[in-house]
Amino acid sequence: MTQHPFIRSLALAISLFGLTAQAAAAKPEPDVAKVLQQSFKEKGQAGLDRLQQDETQAACSTGKPVQPEAAAKIIATNQASVRDPADGQYLGDWKAGEKVAQSGTGRQFSDDPAKPSGGNCYACHQMAEKEIAYGTIGPSLKHYGKLRGTSEPILKYTWAKLYNAQAFMPCSLMPRFGHKDILTEQQLKDVMALLFDASSPVNQ
Ligand code: HEC
Repeated sequence: MTQHPFIRSLALAISLFGLTAQAAAAKPEPDVAKVLQQSFKEKGQAGLDRLQQDETQAACSTGKPVQPEAAAKIIATNQASVRDPADGQYLGDWKAGEKVAQSGTGRQFSDDPAKPSGGNCYACHQMAEKEIAYGTIGPSLKHYGKLRGTSEPILKYTWAKLYNAQAFMPCSLMPRFGHKDILTEQQLKDVMALLFDASSPVNQ
């Protein structure tokens, strides 16, 4: 049966309308933040205040690449947050540092807020060669101190990097351990020792 031209164009119009309707439905939902607010429930130490982004997090959550001007601002803001150790000593105990690097607990609703958090470094970095379970989101830190030495600028840079990774790399995936009070000053020193001490397993 041949279709009447009018029927054909009507069918075309209907299918075009269908496409337009589909395209409209595929538009991203505007208010993701609102949905998060409504679906998150406070539990233990995990309060709704965690949904409040600071300036850096907001700048890194636009879904678009960060432009040079915004990147420079992120670096400046996060550089300004870095606090050197009060006594000027960067290095603690590498054995305690290895425990911090291995531990992935802390900050979750089910964790005891009175207990110190871990750094979970192995989740993203290779560190000691004998540890075979590690993630690769971050670069390998194997032989970190052996390769870079322990000059003042290297110690200072590494301290600042651990304190606030975004002081150097805008929108880094690495947690801002000092700035966000995830690790204490002593824990940061211990992790520094893990990276730099000649007898630490990282440098074997
Ligand atoms: C969620 C993943 C993640 C965790 C956890 C993490 N990092 Fe990172 N780290 C990265 C990424 C990604 C980079 C590379 C981008 C950058 O420089 O920020 C990096 C970079 C670094 C650098 C700079 C390396 C260089 O070549 O200068 C150091 C040092 C470092 N991390 C140490 C640590 C230590 C120590 C811990 C644990 C206390 C840790 N990281 C935890 C993801 C992580």
